[in-house]
Amino acid sequence: MKDMTEVTPVYLDNNATTRVWPEVVEAMLPYFSEQFGNASSIHAFGAEVGGALRQARRSLQELIGAEFDHEIIFTSGGTESNNTAIRSALQVQPGRNEVITSAVEHPAILSLVDWLEKHEDVVVHRIGVDKLGRLDIDAYREKLSDKTAVVSFMWANNETGTIFPVDGLAELAHQHGALFHCDAVQAVGKVPIDVKSTDIDMMSMSSHKLHGPKGLGALYLKKGTRFRPLQRGGHQERGRRGGTENAPAIVGLGKAAEMARASMAEDIKRMTALRDKLETGLVASVGHCFVTGDPLDRLPNTSTIAFEYIEGEAILLKLNQAGIAASSGSACTSGSLEPSHVLRAMDIPFTAAHGAIRFSLSRETTEEEIDRVLAVVPEIIAGLRVMSPFWSADGASPENFDPAYA
Ligand SMILES: Cc1ncc(COP(=O)(O)O)c(C=O)c1O
Repeated sequence: MKDMTEVTPVYLDNNATTRVWPEVVEAMLPYFSEQFGNASSIHAFGAEVGGALRQARRSLQELIGAEFDHEIIFTSGGTESNNTAIRSALQVQPGRNEVITSAVEHPAILSLVDWLEKHEDVVVHRIGVDKLGRLDIDAYREKLSDKTAVVSFMWANNETGTIFPVDGLAELAHQHGALFHCDAVQAVGKVPIDVKSTDIDMMSMSSHKLHGPKGLGALYLKKGTRFRPLQRGGHQERGRRGGTENAPAIVGLGKAAEMARASMAEDIKRMTALRDKLETGLVASVGHCFVTGDPLDRLPNTSTIAFEYIEGEAILLKLNQAGIAASSGSACTSGSLEPSHVLRAMDIPFTAAHGAIRFSLSRETTEEEIDRVLAVVPEIIAGLRVMSPFWSADGASPENFDPAYA
């Protein structure tokens, strides 16, 4: 196996973050130098920057199909957008103290609701999913009531790519007078979104997942939705998020949104074909592995494959040595390997959840890169299985697997 320094790296961790497109960098550069004005200033320096921010807002508006540009509030990222939306929904409805979300949300929702439950007297319902990561809609219906302040479901799961039917879920929330928030961080720029034709009240986005700069996000706030800012200060963002705007980053996000929109149909086709090639190839050549998530409704770029009887961290290290960047479904904390909360909620056995690897593609991923992964992964897996205490020479030995080890 080649050392990483000898080969061109293959980046398949685009759900963690994406490369900032060169056109995006180019669009941003003037806003670090000659266009340095404060968009709130009335002189020419400010006015020019203000015009660029309006253009960027329109580009993002068009990408998600928002009806009005003032429905976009720029924030510092997906995490801030999620915090803003959930806290606002609770504050504007003091008679309602319940939140409904799913067990497979990103920590940017789950750790917030854990906090609210522990410290702020909020009742939280975490709705489960089936083995394919699909939401238990009956359980959701049961938890809805006139105490529900807000329902928050993600558009697409960051680990498996499974897509939730958010429009229908939002309609149900409204039948009970609750607000509906959607964490669409992994969906925006990857799949078509037209918020104006949905019942979504608030939707979180993040620039760095769509080839824009890091540290910038946005919250879609449907016109007429009651709102309380998280961050108070100046009159920026119509008083809904105080603080001088990060003009270079906003311009960059605007450019990234424009580019994503222009090539989305083509990108979806290409990424789906490459993702399918990767999955079919690995399942056929490796054995004792399977693709997680909903086979019918899944992001075109995301593939989490569970390799049984070995550990994801070991696979990742070997992949890294071979110049391939991916990520694992488990988090290595103080020596114990905990399978991801998403795979656990899907009831994926420990033997498989431990060995889950997420490959996330981008529109830059090439067929040659996928061929390289297909060439090296079987060798890596075979090598690790030989050393695994849970694997015997004549094949898999699940009975050897000791859950206490987890
Ligand atoms: C589904 C989801 N929500 C929220 C976030 C957080 O976004 P940000 O990094 O912009 O704070 C992420 C990032 O991985 C994500 O995947």
